[in-house]
This record gives sequence, C-alpha cells and structure tokens, in this order.
Amino acid sequence: MAISNSFTGKLLRRGSADGVRLMSSWFRNVDQAPKDPILGVTEAFLADQSPNKVNVGVGAYRDDNGKPVVLECVREAEKRIAGSQFMEYLPMGGSIKLVEESLKLAYGENSDFIKDKRIAAVQALSGTGACRLFAAFQQRFHPGTQIYIPVPTWSNHHNIWKDAGVPLKTFRYYYPESRGLDFSGLMEDIKNAPNGSFFLLHACAHNPTGVDPTEEQWREISSLIKAKGHFPFFDMAYQGFASGSPERDAKAISIFLEDGHLIGLAQSYAKNMGLYGQRVGCLSVLCEDEKQAVAVKSQLQLISRPMYSNPPLHGALIASTVLGDPELKKLWLEEVKGMADRIIGMRATLRENLEKRGSPLPWQHITDQIGMFCYSGMTPEQVDRLTNEFHIYMTRNGRISMAGINSGNVGYIADAIHQVTKSA
Ligand code: LMR
Repeated sequence: MAISNSFTGKLLRRGSADGVRLMSSWFRNVDQAPKDPILGVTEAFLADQSPNKVNVGVGAYRDDNGKPVVLECVREAEKRIAGSQFMEYLPMGGSIKLVEESLKLAYGENSDFIKDKRIAAVQALSGTGACRLFAAFQQRFHPGTQIYIPVPTWSNHHNIWKDAGVPLKTFRYYYPESRGLDFSGLMEDIKNAPNGSFFLLHACAHNPTGVDPTEEQWREISSLIKAKGHFPFFDMAYQGFASGSPERDAKAISIFLEDGHLIGLAQSYAKNMGLYGQRVGCLSVLCEDEKQAVAVKSQLQLISRPMYSNPPLHGALIASTVLGDPELKKLWLEEVKGMADRIIGMRATLRENLEKRGSPLPWQHITDQIGMFCYSGMTPEQVDRLTNEFHIYMTRNGRISMAGINSGNVGYIADAIHQVTKSA
C-alpha cells in the first residue's frame, strides 16, 4: 500500500510533532528524582567555582595533597595483567580466583569453611552490588521477612533493600549524647525483634558514625542474635581500612563464625584497594554443607544473570593479582595501613585544631571514632552554613569524610566548624 493512503501516512501528514508526542507521552509525568544524599554532594562541589572549596562528602580516599590515589600494588598488578588475558566473559559467578582470595581474606587463610566448601560465593559489583544481590536472594527465598538496619546507616542501604522488596525495620545503634554506641538500645531491639529476623551489621568502620562495638560487645551481640535465631548479614566495606589490619577489622566476623552462625557477607575493594570505579566485590553466604552451598550459589547466579549477566573483568584481575601474589599482597598491606594511619592522624589534628581555637564543644569523639567518617554531631543547618559560607561540602547528617582532610586544609576546616558551632 502506498504510504499516502495508509494510517501511518495520515499520521505523518498531520505533522511529525504529534507522532513524537504520542511516542514520548508515557514518561511525560515522571518527576525529577531527589538528589542522592551522598553523590549529590559531589555534584554540588563540582559546580562550585570557589578556590577554597573542600569536599568531605563522599567517602573516597585522598592523599595529604588532596589527590586521589592509585596504590603501587595496583599499578604493579596492572602492569602484570596488561595484555595477558583475553577479554572473554567471566563465568556468571565471576572470577574464581577473586572469589577464592576474597574468602581467604574474610574467613581466614586456613578456614575450615573454605576447606569444607560450605561457602556459596560470587563476585559482585562492589559492596553495593553484593548487598543488592543478597537482598534479592533474601526476598526470593525468605519473602516477607524484614531486615533490621541500624539507625543511622549508609543511606543506600535503605534503597537497596527497599528496591529488592524486603520490608525494612530499624534498630538503635548510635547514641547522640555520647556520640557513641547505644549498646543497651541495640541489645534491646535485637531481643524484641521477632525470632528469625535478618540483621544488617557493619563489620567495621560503621558508616556514617565511625562507631564500632568493642570486641566484648560483639561477643554479646553474637550470642543474642544466635539465641534469637536471627540471620546476620555483614557489610564489610572497609576491611583493613579501619585499623590498618585486615585481620583486626574482620574480628566481628570471626566472633560470629566461632559462635556457629550462618552468615551473609558483602565485601568491597573500593576503599581498601582504591578500586572505587572498578566495582569489585564479593558476596558470600556460609551454608550448612557443600550441597547447600552449591544450590545457593546457583540461585545467586540465576539472580545476577538477567540483571547484568556476568561481572566485569578488569578490576577482578587487579584485586586477585594483588591478593594472590605474596609480594604484592605485602605491599598492599603496607599501603592500606598507610591510608588508615593518615586518617587516624588527621583525626587527632582536626580535634587539636578545634580545641586550640577554644571551641566550647567536646571533640573527643573525632578520635574515638574509626574509619573513613567522623559523625561530627553538627546539625543540618550548621552543615548548610559550612557549605554556603565556607564552600565546605558534606552530607547534611554531619558526616565528615576524614579522607578529604589534609595538612593543607585542616586549619581552614577547623576554623569554619568553630565558626558555625561556637554559639550552639
Ligand atoms: C560513601 O558512603 O560516601 C561511600 O560509600 C560512597 C557511596 O557510594 O555512597
């Protein structure tokens, strides 16, 4: 049929604008999404033209000159892998070598769980991807059961479990008056949750508060979670980055393992290896036996296949080369300790600078807290003043990314914090 007589022809003659409108109208009423509370801060920082601007929003490591860092072990691994591999698809579960190395790092080099093949594990798109995969797995095989998340927690945890269709509940974690752990509140909430609930725990360097339970408190938490038959899911985004020792930072995991829990675990190499944009991580689920682990892994793969088919190769090659080579691993351990130590040092310097300026407020929590963040206790309005008057960018919950502070800007930041908090 000639186009002039056809329905399409008539439509085209009526004007192409109508055609375009018909095609596009289904998303005309879509509202603009709110800005991400963390990544939105980076957008605002980049748009600011002030030479004094400082970004202590997103948790991304900077050296003492304020520059992003590529670790030497990573540079060396990149040299070794350059041209050494075909760019083939990884298996659905990702790099077997990366998964093996990740399990050794988290569960221990000589773990019986690894020997007994009791761990179902797949490469994941960093910590976020690992959490999301687990949330989808939880929703599919334990539908309707809520996950308890700490107050506060990393803002994306809310989105991850919500988008996976898992009901969310909260448990008390942080006590604003002491700027420390609300241990009794936390224990009470674990006790009062219906038996068999899921609990999301930060293995170390709690984000955003930098407040971790002591070893003794972890033991009590573990016993109570066991008595209640809850399932612990650990997000371990900072192994090695908190104290400088990957073993020490995995202490909570080893306590739970000793107590005989089955656990879920998200690992990330964003912070501790500086592989932020490579999206390298691992999701593992400790099962009762090998048969169960095989089944769980197959189901995790069934979830990831229609989402992204298989994970990316390059970052997995880097991380597994570093962890799999004794010389590079030794270098990594030194470098991750170097990053942790710089942050620990900056905590002391920031506190000292605030005290030197005669701040009437207590700042001990800056040095008591651990990891990438300091939960300063500043109000959203004080944070707004820091941004508007001093071009200092941070999340409105008062979280300071310590990684963005250096010897060059610590005085400026302390001055500004003092200005906005002194009359509080
Ligand atoms: C953060 O908390 O700033 C980081 O984990 C980066 C992110 O993705 O939010």
